[in-house]
Amino acid sequence: MTQFDFIRDIAKYGLENDQERLLFALSELIDHSKKSKKINFALQLQSLIKESIRQQQNSGLVKVGSNKHILREEDREINEFIIEKLTSDYKFSNLVCSTDVRENLEFFVKEHKSINILKQFDLPISNKILLHGPSGCGKTLAAYVLAGELEKMMVVVNLGAIVSSKLGETSKNLAKLFRKATTENTIIFIDEFDSLGKIRDYSQDHGEMKRVVNTILQLFDYLPQENLVIAATNQKEMIDEALVRRFDAIIKLELPNESQIKELIALTLKKGNFKFDNTRNSQKIIKSSLGLSYFSIQKTLITALKRTLLSYAENLRPITATISTGIWQELVTEEKKNLIRS
Ligand SMILES: Nc1ncnc2c1ncn2[C@@H]1O[C@H](COP(=O)(O)OP(=O)(O)OP(=O)(O)O)[C@@H](O)[C@H]1O
Ligand SMILES: [Mg+2]
Repeated sequence: MTQFDFIRDIAKYGLENDQERLLFALSELIDHSKKSKKINFALQLQSLIKESIRQQQNSGLVKVGSNKHILREEDREINEFIIEKLTSDYKFSNLVCSTDVRENLEFFVKEHKSINILKQFDLPISNKILLHGPSGCGKTLAAYVLAGELEKMMVVVNLGAIVSSKLGETSKNLAKLFRKATTENTIIFIDEFDSLGKIRDYSQDHGEMKRVVNTILQLFDYLPQENLVIAATNQKEMIDEALVRRFDAIIKLELPNESQIKELIALTLKKGNFKFDNTRNSQKIIKSSLGLSYFSIQKTLITALKRTLLSYAENLRPITATISTGIWQELVTEEKKNLIRS
């Protein structure tokens, strides 16, 4: 069958209100998309169907306090805490990092792809990963890479909102969120995991912090092996030790060294085939940008590139794919000054 055949069937059953056949046609399209490597599309369809079935089960008139009513309320509340629900096209090739980090991340993915083999031998499967390190060094990016490589949906959780919204309900909300992600088999990505530490500031009640940490410990301990939790923080020291210990993999993403900066430049300039106007100067700038994050270096490079291109146009010179190292040097110097000030 071609995609057009699927669309025709789906339109037909949809218009005829034939739910059963519609679902069948959709599930065939999902299989077809997976086979033709349109994984993200398949995942999105799958999630749409799950969501719609769930809503249908909860729709209609419901009695306040009944199970259905509670479920519907719960869905609404949980959605407040989800920043995004996404699929990802990022792959390992998008992330520059040390060999160690790469191997750890790759092993994590491999473990999940071969989950059945490990289960046969009753071996535990790593499913909780903590990414830490300075800002702009690829923690969020690494989470997207994991989702892309594992071909899974991911929910990005707004832990700050859970913690600060209704004090005293943090534990309950976290439990709901984990329940939903487990039934839908999505990766839970808790960015800014250190916001847990803020409970200490918000709450006069010191018991609250302990309660929340205990809840997370329990949620982690009872997390089915197929489900994954990724947490990211740039303040690992803010997180309770007991909690840190629960992670199966703790991975630090560090500031780039010289060869990693070169890799980042190659990756960033890959599409346009851009070159520097002076190779020796570019080597010097690479050395002088040590200490900056991947994000800052990439930002200065792209800005330099754009400024160079526009200056050609302004001076009515033919546009060539070169980057002015003079402009780039200025931007890097500025960025380093900002770093010292902050
Ligand atoms: N290791 C890396 N390899 C390639 N690109 C990177 C890397 N780190 C950062 N970048 C670039 O910088 C952007 C921002 O990085 P990212 O959001 O992953 O940083 P972060 O560590 O999560 O920072 P924060 O702690 O501020 O949230 C990325 O989208 C990417 O373009
Ligand atoms: Mg981040």
